[in-house]
Amino acid sequence: MAEMAITKKRPKNLDLPTIRLPLPGILSIIHRISGAVIFLLLPFLLWLLQGSLASAETFAVVKGVVGHPLAKLVLLGLIWLYMHHFCAGIRYLMLDLHKGIDLESARLSSKVVFAVSIALTLIIGAKVLW
Ligand code: HEM
Repeated sequence: MAEMAITKKRPKNLDLPTIRLPLPGILSIIHRISGAVIFLLLPFLLWLLQGSLASAETFAVVKGVVGHPLAKLVLLGLIWLYMHHFCAGIRYLMLDLHKGIDLESARLSSKVVFAVSIALTLIIGAKVLW
């Protein structure tokens, strides 16, 4: 039996750019990337928070940095990464509870995660950054 498994020719495709990921796959990769990016940037975000709270002078410096249009764009991207990680995380917790695990529901919940995370990003960005 074990020999059969070894000799059996299985289809394989190692040409990664030709693999078309379905939406839940794209969501999964962004969830992983967002978790790593947020984790790596935590010291910087905490430094910004500390600067904004330490004194009026450091608050002015942080305000100046965060007020730059490029910084706002970066922060908007970060807000989206966090919102995506948060919404996708809730989806994964639901999947862990075996809720929505059939293909159709999994595809629908991926679309909901993208729609909700983008909507939340725009709302929070408008409130906090502009
Ligand atoms: C500072 C905030 C956070 C950081 C730095 C962070 C970071 C991470 C990282 C690095 C992973 C591993 C990703 C992977 O390798 O696949 C992960 C997974 C996960 N995160 Fe977060 N996370 C944060 C907040 C949250 C929040 C608020 C939620 C709530 C919804 C959440 C839910 C999850 C879940 C459910 C997983 C496991 C997903 C799976 O089963 O593959 N995370 N997180």
